[in-house]
Amino acid sequence: MENHKSQIRDILAQTTKTADQKMQEVCQYLQQQIPHYDWVGYYFANHEHRTLHLGPFAGDPTDHTVIPFGKGICGQVALSNQNFVVPDVKAQDNYIACSLHVKAEIVVPLFKNGVNIGQIDIDSHTPDPFTDADVDLLEFVNERVAEIL
Ligand code: SME
Repeated sequence: MENHKSQIRDILAQTTKTADQKMQEVCQYLQQQIPHYDWVGYYFANHEHRTLHLGPFAGDPTDHTVIPFGKGICGQVALSNQNFVVPDVKAQDNYIACSLHVKAEIVVPLFKNGVNIGQIDIDSHTPDPFTDADVDLLEFVNERVAEIL
């Protein structure tokens, strides 16, 4: 994971790219390099409308480009401000299915100046794949991403 952190730092340090382009590269990097990350994307919060909006992502396109606060795993994290690790999506009542292949999901909020401005969302086709190492990596990624926003 330390190697991944160094690569993420390098992606975000590029001076010729926009924040959007760098976040896109972060999503692509994570999705390609970590075998149990099958879909990686960012959602951004609109606090006025209480909705999440899909930003940069890597993986298959999703129909869920706008998610109301409270709906699904993502919408719950918009309200709780807490990491949400889902080892088995079938065990969740409040879950929005993006693909029948998805077995597990992890969502880590993105804070800027203490405000929950969005989140990184990872879908996995592997059952129960996420450990503390994933939480640590994704918190690191979001802390570094917040610095360029
Ligand atoms: N499964 C998510 C919806 C977003 S997709 O995974 C890309 C949820 O329940 O919030």
